Amino acid sequence: MLTNLVLGEDQLSLSINGGQARFDYFWLRDNARDPVSFDTRSNQRELFTALVDPAIRPRNGWVDDDAGTLVLEWPDLDVAAHYEAGFLAEFAQAGDPMRLPDSRPWNAASLDPDSVRLSFDAFHGEGGVSQLLERLLGHGFAVLTGTPRNLDAVQQVADSIGYVRHTIFGGLFEFEANEDMADSAYTPKELRPHTDGTYSHDAPGLQLLLCVDYDAEGGESIMVDGARIAADLKSSHPQVHADLTRIGVTGLYKGDGVVLRARRPILRLDETGRLAQVTFNNYDRDTVRLADDDMRALYAGIRAFDRMANDPAYQWRYTLAPGDMLIFDNWRVLHGRGVFRGRRRMAGAYLNREDFESSVRSCGLA
Ligand SMILES: [Fe+2]
Repeated sequence: MLTNLVLGEDQLSLSINGGQARFDYFWLRDNARDPVSFDTRSNQRELFTALVDPAIRPRNGWVDDDAGTLVLEWPDLDVAAHYEAGFLAEFAQAGDPMRLPDSRPWNAASLDPDSVRLSFDAFHGEGGVSQLLERLLGHGFAVLTGTPRNLDAVQQVADSIGYVRHTIFGGLFEFEANEDMADSAYTPKELRPHTDGTYSHDAPGLQLLLCVDYDAEGGESIMVDGARIAADLKSSHPQVHADLTRIGVTGLYKGDGVVLRARRPILRLDETGRLAQVTFNNYDRDTVRLADDDMRALYAGIRAFDRMANDPAYQWRYTLAPGDMLIFDNWRVLHGRGVFRGRRRMAGAYLNREDFESSVRSCGLA
């Protein structure tokens, strides 16, 4: 409900459901939803903002529709612009449209292992995709149980969130641990916790890994919450944390006719200071000579981060059974795998970060 409208010098003030709010005239003109200024079908602005008079103010303004709409007449518009109460309430204060629901950083002691599991049948049912996304937002990973053991199931889960990302490795993938393969991902040796795509400017947002066959000993999957490590480092070793947010680390993929390189800090913060992305892969770290001080600070940071990532107190360890699909946020959670003997066949896919975020918003979770 809109009341107490007062048109001031360069702002207007009004009450929105009893709360006081102020809006700059220029902001209101820039965000007018009339048919000339804004295309509601494409959600695109038609106004040339830079050409609007910086001192613009409405000729007239009033509240209409039983106090549900603010109406403003602008000197450069032939039609009145209408601002719904809900729209004004949404923007009554400065906000961040990129913000997702707060995560719940965990360690081994705080994580309830049952809370990450979701049956494939439940995922298929009403609201199943939201249930999966809620787990990914909260803990950064989830396990779908009872998943059909084929590539179609991987495709189906990927399509429910976004679409399969194509990389130098292709789209959907299958692999089997094999002593003959050279890449660290394919060997039965232990894989220390890491994130994928450190050599990509836009690392995969989600990874799906389906256990197709398991006839082996060992080979536990390992999840580590990079957000929890970041939070703990910030309080226990603030200088190490600060260095890890500052020093760029270069990832490299060289082979198969490509040379991919990308650089970002291990703990990348956004413009608001929030943790935006964790990037850590010692296998793929490029050989780089930094200035001596930065080089030493980076090595100290890698040492501290790696020690925590390999501490069981920070790990969820679980041996995937055939039909278990591990899905994780590759911008937050590190993945690894214990040593094993025998045969283990996996299928999987990557999704883009932006499609994961889009799905979160489309499901009304942000
Ligand atoms: Fe990996």
